Amino acid sequence: MFGASKIIQLTVDRLGPKGDGVAIFPKGSVFVDRTAPLDEVSVRVFQDKAGITRGEVVKLLTPSPYRQKPPCPHFDSCGNCTLQHLNLEFYQFWKNETVKESLKKAGLHTKTFLKPIFLEGQNRRRITFTALNERGKITLGYYQRRSKQITTINQCEIALPDLFVFKDSLKPFLKYLLTPSTPIDISLQWVSGKFDIVISGLKLSAKNEKILKEISQLHPVARLSLKNETKINVLFNNHPLRKSFGEIQVNLPPGAFLQPTQEGEEALVKTVMAALPEGKQFADLFSGCGTFSGAMLSRGSVDSFESSNSAVKSLSEATRNFPLKVYRRDLFKNPVRHQDLNRFDAIVFDPPRAGCEEQAHEMALSKCKTLIGVSCNPATFARDAKILVRGGYQLQSLQVIDQFLWSHHVELVGVFKKLR
Ligand SMILES: C[S@@+](CC[C@H](N)C(=O)[O-])C[C@H]1O[C@@H](n2cnc3c(N)ncnc32)[C@H](O)[C@@H]1O
Repeated sequence: MFGASKIIQLTVDRLGPKGDGVAIFPKGSVFVDRTAPLDEVSVRVFQDKAGITRGEVVKLLTPSPYRQKPPCPHFDSCGNCTLQHLNLEFYQFWKNETVKESLKKAGLHTKTFLKPIFLEGQNRRRITFTALNERGKITLGYYQRRSKQITTINQCEIALPDLFVFKDSLKPFLKYLLTPSTPIDISLQWVSGKFDIVISGLKLSAKNEKILKEISQLHPVARLSLKNETKINVLFNNHPLRKSFGEIQVNLPPGAFLQPTQEGEEALVKTVMAALPEGKQFADLFSGCGTFSGAMLSRGSVDSFESSNSAVKSLSEATRNFPLKVYRRDLFKNPVRHQDLNRFDAIVFDPPRAGCEEQAHEMALSKCKTLIGVSCNPATFARDAKILVRGGYQLQSLQVIDQFLWSHHVELVGVFKKLR
């Protein structure tokens, strides 16, 4: 559409669903990273691999009133926190609007759009760093946006400080561990004051095993595992990684899914529990290790469904003495049938980003009076909610919980009631 490396001037009109500025140009839309509506910019235009026309800012000519100075010095080169240049008021407005827009596109509305909860601060408990040895120069940091380049990060405005400080203690080991030009990912999750470390992209050798053992002895590492394409193998297990969910204590498997922040987990559980009706039998679909199942046990019995072997095993072991049954089930290929859902007083569902279209069709046919949907993807949530509404449910309330500060991601809880 545009000639190679052409420089043009644009005024940004709005933000797209992934937070990029979108400028309307006579020849079509141009997506410009890290800009705000009303920014006047000169950009170098190019076509990305997917054929999308993008603009790289050459100069910010007139800054938008919705801007602020990004608090992090790595903002320009780090691939995370792509919305740090937006002032708080506009940022929060935009996050809300993306949810409302997704509902609107699906022809949905709710009477009760609850006051959004915005969680700020350095509270991410799971972070993946990438390490690379390039001709003897070691880089440890985050990927740049849409790039294989890694930026060294010395400070992070969203990660728990303990987690970030710990990263530096890995540096002395890296030159011995890394194979030149082969990046490895080091994922750290902070659980009850200890670290769960999962490393991907590394071949196990006698030499590496010795170095990894030394890393596992650093304080306060509880466990160190290696991940390949198909599975995670625990190499060193110093302490159990125990996490409480309501009434239960679960020994987490390596790399277990947890909500990204403790505050987010608490806000989600509180919102779900406030919407849970009186009753005796509840279902938790896509239960993971039991974030909602554990809390729901205080109200009645729970049937939990989840596809991950390790999560199912951990949750089963933790709930032997509780009225909770755990089923290993792929809910995409084999959703729980509506006839089997009818007996529940309420169903909580918290699918991955892809949503749960197949399961939504079954829930839509069920007679269960209350469905509570948790989602980190407003677009797939809206698609699935539409199926439920067609099946006779009404979206009674919607709560936005922003636990992904400065990213375009947003979490929400929707409560559905069966009307007919
Ligand atoms: C967003 S997480 C929610 C986990 C849990 N509700 C929590 O809050 O900790 C989504 C969960 O769905 C599980 N999952 C992914 N695909 C699945 C499938 N096809 N069938 C069943 N569970 C699946 C994942 O393993 C993960 O535990």
